[in-house]
Amino acid sequence: MPNLFDPLSLGSLTLSNRIVMAPMTRSRATADGVVGELTATYYAQRASAGLLISEGTVPSAMGKGYVRIPGIYTPEQIAGWKLTTDAVHAAGGRIFCQIMHCGRIAHPHLLPDRAQAVAPSAVTPNVKTWTDDLGMLPLEAPRALETHEIAGVIDEYRQATVNALAAGFDGVELHAASGYLPMQFLSTSTNLRTDQYGGSVENRIRFVVEALQAMVSVAGPEKVSIKISPEMPFNDITDANPTETYTALVQAISGLGLAYLHVAQTLPQPNYHALLRPLFAGPYLAGAGLTQESATALLTNGQADAAVFGAAFIANPDLPARFADGTPLSAPDPSTFYTPGAKGYTDYLPK
Ligand SMILES: Cc1cc2nc3c(=O)[nH]c(=O)nc-3n(C[C@H](O)[C@H](O)[C@H](O)COP(=O)(O)O)c2cc1C
Repeated sequence: MPNLFDPLSLGSLTLSNRIVMAPMTRSRATADGVVGELTATYYAQRASAGLLISEGTVPSAMGKGYVRIPGIYTPEQIAGWKLTTDAVHAAGGRIFCQIMHCGRIAHPHLLPDRAQAVAPSAVTPNVKTWTDDLGMLPLEAPRALETHEIAGVIDEYRQATVNALAAGFDGVELHAASGYLPMQFLSTSTNLRTDQYGGSVENRIRFVVEALQAMVSVAGPEKVSIKISPEMPFNDITDANPTETYTALVQAISGLGLAYLHVAQTLPQPNYHALLRPLFAGPYLAGAGLTQESATALLTNGQADAAVFGAAFIANPDLPARFADGTPLSAPDPSTFYTPGAKGYTDYLPK
């Protein structure tokens, strides 16, 4: 059985270890969604991970849901990300771009011309969001996408994939977790549609499957991946039968030949790794709440091919080296997770 320090074939890449850095929003971009040298330094510091997954990066202005998050839809955004991918590659690392459309988890204050957020259905999230000028604001009712508009949103994922590859990323990850737009289509509490994108489980998974197909059409399957988080208690979203939904989804995408399936297991039960790992033909990345010990156990038990670490990578840029020699981990400071500047971002030093 493999351990965390063994290489892993993933698409056309060979990862040097099975310790993956989770996608983490850090809100260090400009108001126009452009990242620069500071972000390049942050990711390059962490390049000893087998794979880095970028923070959620929006495919369009309507996909934005938080202050100072990056995009991948303007020439300036693409050029900004190129600094990061060059720095990571120069340091011997690999990096995928996580494509995130927030859907209804967006306040009009963050959207062009104070637009209403878009979603599968007009279900208002019971969620508050931070704005730099007005502080915390409750989210407002989104509008339901018309059926004829959905192909356009899916095309944003295709174009974002083209742009991410132009920016030098090794691949892309569809963010279908954490209650954002794709998960809003998957879940019964947020998808009340009566067209071909709602109702039956086959219809609720259609948006995610079509988004992946659009991404694969321009990148090939080996550079496309997906993150899911079944039953994640975040962003006011629930599903009436999540094991059925995620079983159907993973069965539907298993044959696409994707680079990997990334599953965040956020509740103790049911064990989604045990349920979903056997249903997916390619590499399986398990994440959320892992320690070196629990991650090693997942690999040993055959429930994952690689382990994904989030907060630990914020405070320990050399996490694989610390795991290798038993150096105690530093604790991250949550008060600087989303604040501008270098503090709490690039000032955690290796051992
Ligand atoms: C500061 C922060 C920002 C995050 N932003 C994202 C994100 O942009 N996309 C995403 O899929 N998950 C995001 N997450 C969730 C992480 O990817 C990961 O699933 C979570 O932190 C659990 O793993 P951990 O216990 O190893 O930290 C974020 C987590 C943290 C701590």
